[in-house]
Amino acid sequence: MWVQVISDWKGTQSLDTIGLPPQTWPAKAVTMVGHVITRLIRRYLVGRQQEFAFRAARELRLPHLTETDLYLHIPFCQNLCPYCPYNRIPYQEDLVGPYTDAMLAEIDMYGEQLGRVKLTSIYIGGGTPTTLIEELGAILGRVRERFDVAGPICIETNPGDVTPLTVRKLQDYSVSMISVGVQSFDERYLRLIGRRYGAQDITRAIELAVGAGLDSVNLDLMFALPGQPLRDLEADLRKAIASGANQLTTYPLFTFPYTSVGAFLKLKKVMTCPHK
Ligand SMILES: C[S@@+](CC[C@H](N)C(=O)[O-])C[C@H]1O[C@@H](n2cnc3c(N)ncnc32)[C@H](O)[C@@H]1O
Ligand code: SF4
Repeated sequence: MWVQVISDWKGTQSLDTIGLPPQTWPAKAVTMVGHVITRLIRRYLVGRQQEFAFRAARELRLPHLTETDLYLHIPFCQNLCPYCPYNRIPYQEDLVGPYTDAMLAEIDMYGEQLGRVKLTSIYIGGGTPTTLIEELGAILGRVRERFDVAGPICIETNPGDVTPLTVRKLQDYSVSMISVGVQSFDERYLRLIGRRYGAQDITRAIELAVGAGLDSVNLDLMFALPGQPLRDLEADLRKAIASGANQLTTYPLFTFPYTSVGAFLKLKKVMTCPHK
């Protein structure tokens, strides 16, 4: 790994002997100058005495813990929303295996370092974690092998992903809390923000989740949507309260320069919403 090679380099070896691809002499000179500048910057930042080196993650030394919470991130989504700032990528079947293997390896790595610590909660977020509904069995199984799971397991999903099969699998995995990204019950706003399900899908998803008897069903609602008057937000809130879900989370639409929202002109109207 590149970072490892650099942190192991002591300045006396030939660069060709430490695993870098063969270089021409001008390129070697540039690399050397790079090392000198890096060393000077390190010394400036941390002083003469202290160690400052990038290390591969497997070398991390974690503090001693007896209990902690665990967050698992699954970045895949069937449809990428233009406003979303989170770490997410389009679902691709050929990435599922490598991503799952990487997660299992990372769980092992933390397990080796921390020992069988108590996990007071597990939160599986995304992306849309239910895109890996099959793989979640192996992932949570590995977590249980390595740690003492002693708290609730919560997962994020969206209405299009909530099917009888998904809910049954989640229950098989002992997931007790589900968070459904409804955003709005109003199809005009769903279309406007690029969500690909309708009001009926939402009703069906909530009925399934509530009917399954999970400990908690949370609904995410977004507000301050483009052109959204207060009465439309109130209508969404009433529907959410009447739905049978027992928790509600609301987010004002926020924008980040690095999302495609900047190019999505309609969403810019949110800055100049004239309604009260
Ligand atoms: C990481 S998403 C996961 C849920 C699921 N992927 C979905 O979208 O339904 C968690 C929540 O973040 C909120 N969210 C995402 N992007 C947002 C934005 N730009 N402004 C406000 N809320 C946002 C949505 O309410 C969403 O349900
Ligand atoms: S809002 Fe949810 S579904 Fe949309 S891209 Fe972000 S994580 Fe994926």
